[in-house]
Amino acid sequence: MIILTEELIELGKKNAAIKAVEENVKKNMIIGIGSGSTIIYAVKRLGEMNKEKNLNVKCIPSSFQSYQLIIQNGLELVSLEQYPEIDVDIDGADEIDKDLNLVKGGGGCLVQEKIIASNSKKLIIIADFRKKSEKLGMNWKGGVPIEVIPMAYFPIMKKLKNLGGNPKLRMAQSKSGPLITDNGNFIIDVDFGEINNPKEIDKKVLFIPGVVDTGLFIGMTTKVYIGNRDGEVLIFNKK
Ligand code: A5P
Repeated sequence: MIILTEELIELGKKNAAIKAVEENVKKNMIIGIGSGSTIIYAVKRLGEMNKEKNLNVKCIPSSFQSYQLIIQNGLELVSLEQYPEIDVDIDGADEIDKDLNLVKGGGGCLVQEKIIASNSKKLIIIADFRKKSEKLGMNWKGGVPIEVIPMAYFPIMKKLKNLGGNPKLRMAQSKSGPLITDNGNFIIDVDFGEINNPKEIDKKVLFIPGVVDTGLFIGMTTKVYIGNRDGEVLIFNKK
């Protein structure tokens, strides 16, 4: 039987998501819910476990998508106002380097994702085998997503070029014009090539007025679950 690459990718996402949920979720926890396609498998398993084991978990979303996922899977939806300290945040990533730094925001949800991650005791990343690389920019060719205030996008693009990047305003699909984030902003995807110094780039970009946040998640990850082609799940811990 021939298994297609797309099927292996979906299997990798699913295996990583299920293992991460089963190993990290405990009774009465406050859980941060990431965004993207891999998190769908995690929230499904979380919903099942919550019912089967009466876990009484409470979930905080990182996007409109994850808000809907929480409700659709019968989980309790709460906010940062009610629970400012999250026990575990589970999320996907576009790329993960050897130090577990991340590129996120391929799905356009980076700002709320970073807020949730920065208020969590643990950030658990789930991904398939395509996402792990030595350096950021080696495998992920979509660039670093940067969320910006709309009226500032043009000068920001110029400044990003001066930093050595190749910026592109992300356009919407099925609508003319730019993509609008859950926060009413634009996204600029910047190709910096292979990134040797993600922390430095992050700092420089964050310094530009009008930048809301970047999709570089530096030193935030606790543990990564990678669903491999062979059905195994590889685990990488923060050093
Ligand atoms: C959402 O904007 C992103 O940060 C996602 O977490 C990231 O793009 C991973 O998405 P997938 O699980 O779909 O690969």
